Amino acid sequence: MRGHKGRPWLRRAQLAGVALALALASSACDSPSMLDPKGPRAGKVADLWWVTLVIGAIVWLIVVFAIVLGAIVRRRSPVDRARDPVWWVVAAGAIVPMVILSGVTVYTLRTVTAVAKKGDSSSLTIEVSARQWWWQVSYPDQKFTTANELHIPVNEPVRVKLSSQDVIHSFWIPQLQGKMDAIPGRDNELWIEADKPGTYRGECAEFCGLQHANMAFVVVAESRSDFDAWTSSQEQEPSQPTDASVVKGQQVFLGSACAYCHTVKGTTASGTLGPDLTHVASRSTLASGALANTRGALAGWVLDPQSTKPNTQMPPTQMNGEDLQALLDYLESLK
Ligand code: CUA
Repeated sequence: MRGHKGRPWLRRAQLAGVALALALASSACDSPSMLDPKGPRAGKVADLWWVTLVIGAIVWLIVVFAIVLGAIVRRRSPVDRARDPVWWVVAAGAIVPMVILSGVTVYTLRTVTAVAKKGDSSSLTIEVSARQWWWQVSYPDQKFTTANELHIPVNEPVRVKLSSQDVIHSFWIPQLQGKMDAIPGRDNELWIEADKPGTYRGECAEFCGLQHANMAFVVVAESRSDFDAWTSSQEQEPSQPTDASVVKGQQVFLGSACAYCHTVKGTTASGTLGPDLTHVASRSTLASGALANTRGALAGWVLDPQSTKPNTQMPPTQMNGEDLQALLDYLESLK
């Protein structure tokens, strides 16, 4: 450390290096990249990014080359200032940038138009309502509601109607489409389309409170037949339980605070404050992507959601071990 005393810039450079390495490492996590597009609209956004990067890099190289060249030439043979060519300043300082920026502007406007392109009126519509901190997902034509998980048929443009129940959020699936804000009192619309089957992560892209970072969702793009199978299973009410533990678990669910905030179709539970749980066991995550949907995570979430997501609206629940196991059996039966 002694060596740094006289050279604070070295210490600063090292800190900057560490910060850069951390930033690169964190960006290398499983976060999706808009530069790995999986749909035509996201592809246009990525193309625009690459084109502006290349143009910017070329301009930068030319400018740096000109600066270096100017310094060398001037040192060798000082020029008469009065005879500096004005036309060069006008061309390089005004005309060339105007031409380049006009081109980039036209290309950007074309991209914006392509990204906003609508499908036809018969396209699938999904209503997404953002809340602190989760996403309610409804399929109005198929008449069911789920949470934090969208399924879409591949190669079909899908309309997403976006709203918010509380503060401004932003709906973003980097590999499928650019961002769109979800604003209270206003309905926004965007179109998404995947050209490859897969599961794509979506995120809230507008700071919306303490758990903004835990407001993720998934988009499952699948073949038309898989999508139709999924919607028809989601439309159905769960069958009445017969297994003794599941029956008991349903009684625990309906007799506790759960039923005030959550809905399970075909039962008296019809709360709308929290996610619809009719088919909760079919979803891949809990708590808006904060937890994998496993029995252990579900138990922890039911008993003490505040330690996973401080400030979440879900309150802690107290129950004995027997009731908890029955409740878990019931929730896991909701496929
Ligand atoms: Cu919702 Cu950030």
